[in-house]
Amino acid sequence: MTPSRPALRLLLGVSLIAGSAAPLAARDVSPAAPAPALVETPAGPTPASWGDTPAMRAFVDALIAKMTLAEKIGQLTLLTSDWVSTGPTLRAGYKEDVAAGKVGSIFNAHSVAYTRELQKLAVEGTRLKIPLLFGYDVIHGHRTMFPISLGEAASWDMEAIEKSARIAATEAAAEGLHWTYAPMVDISRDPRWGRMSEGAGEDVYLGSRIAEARVRGFQGKRIGDTDAVLATVKHFAAYGAAQAGRDYSTTDMSERELRDTYLPPFKAAIDAGAATIMTSFNELDGVPASANSFLLTDVLRKEWGFKGFVVTDYTSINEMIPHGYSKDEKQAGEQSINAGVDMDMQGAVYLNHLARSVAEGKVSMATVDAAVRRVLDMKYRLGLFQDPYRFSDARREKADVMTPAFLAASRDVARKSIVLLKNDGDVLPLAASAKKIALIGPLADSKADMIGSWAGQGSRERPVSLLEGIRARAGKNATVSYAKGASYQFADADKTDGFAEAMAAAADADVIVAAMGEHWDMTGEAASRTDLNLPGNQEALLRQLKTLGKPIVLVLLSGRPNTVSWAADNVDAIMEAWYPGTMAGTAVADVLFGDYNPSGKLPVTFPRSVGQVPIFYNGKNTGRPFSADKADQKYLSRYLDSPNTPQWVFGHGLSYTTFGYSPVTLDKAAIRPGETLTASVTLTNTGRRAGTEMVQLYTRDLVGSVTRPVKELKGFQKVTLKPGESRRVTFRISDRDLAFHRADMSYGAEPGDFTLGIGGSSAVETNVRFSLGE
Ligand code: NOJ
Repeated sequence: MTPSRPALRLLLGVSLIAGSAAPLAARDVSPAAPAPALVETPAGPTPASWGDTPAMRAFVDALIAKMTLAEKIGQLTLLTSDWVSTGPTLRAGYKEDVAAGKVGSIFNAHSVAYTRELQKLAVEGTRLKIPLLFGYDVIHGHRTMFPISLGEAASWDMEAIEKSARIAATEAAAEGLHWTYAPMVDISRDPRWGRMSEGAGEDVYLGSRIAEARVRGFQGKRIGDTDAVLATVKHFAAYGAAQAGRDYSTTDMSERELRDTYLPPFKAAIDAGAATIMTSFNELDGVPASANSFLLTDVLRKEWGFKGFVVTDYTSINEMIPHGYSKDEKQAGEQSINAGVDMDMQGAVYLNHLARSVAEGKVSMATVDAAVRRVLDMKYRLGLFQDPYRFSDARREKADVMTPAFLAASRDVARKSIVLLKNDGDVLPLAASAKKIALIGPLADSKADMIGSWAGQGSRERPVSLLEGIRARAGKNATVSYAKGASYQFADADKTDGFAEAMAAAADADVIVAAMGEHWDMTGEAASRTDLNLPGNQEALLRQLKTLGKPIVLVLLSGRPNTVSWAADNVDAIMEAWYPGTMAGTAVADVLFGDYNPSGKLPVTFPRSVGQVPIFYNGKNTGRPFSADKADQKYLSRYLDSPNTPQWVFGHGLSYTTFGYSPVTLDKAAIRPGETLTASVTLTNTGRRAGTEMVQLYTRDLVGSVTRPVKELKGFQKVTLKPGESRRVTFRISDRDLAFHRADMSYGAEPGDFTLGIGGSSAVETNVRFSLGE
């Protein structure tokens, strides 16, 4: 395909306004009267082929040939609007910058009216009329809010997760957005780090599957569909391993750990077609990620063949000066672009210094052109050269938002995300005989907290509170008394002023439901903690309530694992509901009353105390492993004042029914490379309700050229069974599933002995042996 004549005129710099074609912004862009294409949009590129249709090549090459260096640098510059601030500084005058062609992309601007206004500045005000790209942090919903990402991960339900991203993309794209800064795929094993809430937890296998699902959801069938947005896999790389869990802190690890644990979810997202990638704030092995050519060029481009563009995180090029890596902004910009960063988010470093760097020969024009080409490719694939306003559709902006179907999907994933951690005496689901329910706690009547951090354009007034959801469900069958009782603010730790009211509300209740956890802003960016206890005076109130001698159900609402060991020993039931989203109260009520039988499983280990952190299920055995039968021995890998084991393990989650697992059977005890072994169990619903179990397969490689984790998740399957029903569940394992970075850093499995186990959590014993031959 070759560009049409009007398109060529545009490319050749002939003014559209002076010529016979109508100016872009004056065209009728309503869906009923589509404008004639200035250039044909690409036809259905697939991840395998994208980046290289001949028509796109011709168009983008011709455009680059017409661009001045300043215009090129504009395409590599991303600035925030002044609508929302997601970082420390703002560059004033971004609209003037757009009109002057100094900026090619804008973030934190949305709505049809505003994206049209800004787009008009670009396509009417600049010489080459190159449209803007609009980005935004659409993390777990745009207007219909879904559970925070860590919560969704607890559903282990790839279909539901993909659907949530699909709906988020549909709502965002209807407001003129083209590009989301998600999925965040940082593996994190440190709940002190507040950003754990944005990812999929601690595990590389689960995290990789979720990364793929989210990319599929955001990008839909094809890039260019107006209900899809470009995904950004972030933060590249190893941001989740920030030292001491302090945000923006240093990361240092072996290349093997990086490649085996932290990089695979990025690779999975890229293989699923992720269009863009964001660098992280941290340094890695002494080099800030935004100048890390090992990551950005060797791994990303050369090894993985990534064809999309690389954007920095917010001012992270500028931050290489305090990192101690660059002497000034000009040098920082050179280091970044030469390492492989295409677009500068908010730092204006390229804008202010890159032209001089090119003039001095520090950055080649070929490097600049390659970066510009990647950005223009994406604008082309979105169809923006054909119609720069195609995403800014006033009809869809009204129609495709918070529809009943979207809200139903939000409720569905919210209840699937809830993890039942403890349920002594089957206190849950609430019995019909529970006629008086006391709902207590700072999160009981909160709407604002229910959608967590990074809540896009989600309204903090809109969510269903727990009080509303529980009252609605209880109806005339039960009364619900309410008292806030406690505070989750750090400063209120010693207060007791609300306790009397809470005790009165609970005094004659049949059951107490305590809704406790963290304020929504205690997780997310710049929200690290040194203590993981329930903040404020919440536990103190819980202890008081316990004196009433009534059954207590603790509903935890937070964005990280909290340490709740007193509650774990003293209350009857505990469920982790995370921040469940717009339909929070309805979803929590669904589970409390047993309308939904909980099926969530922890995507992250819950420590007993902050001193155990980092704690995760797939660590190494050590040379002096502790075991219960050696409890009298001193010189073992253990604590004096705590068990090694966590409060709740990765993969844990109870149901209102019970499941029985038969012994594992293997179809063969030995395989060779390329062969497949099948491992099966019979799962039986041994309880009295229908329920869903997430069946998990773990393997262990007993001896390696480097030591191997004590357990690794290699598969999971969701199985729903009626009471008494059984099903055979089968997993296939080949040498590919057993691969890792060996002593010489080559990737592959090693012949030898392995064990596996299949069960309902990572506590399952891996004791079934098999071997891999040469
Ligand atoms: C900083 C955050 O680290 C990143 O995740 C986000 O996408 C950008 N700010 C833009 O808001």
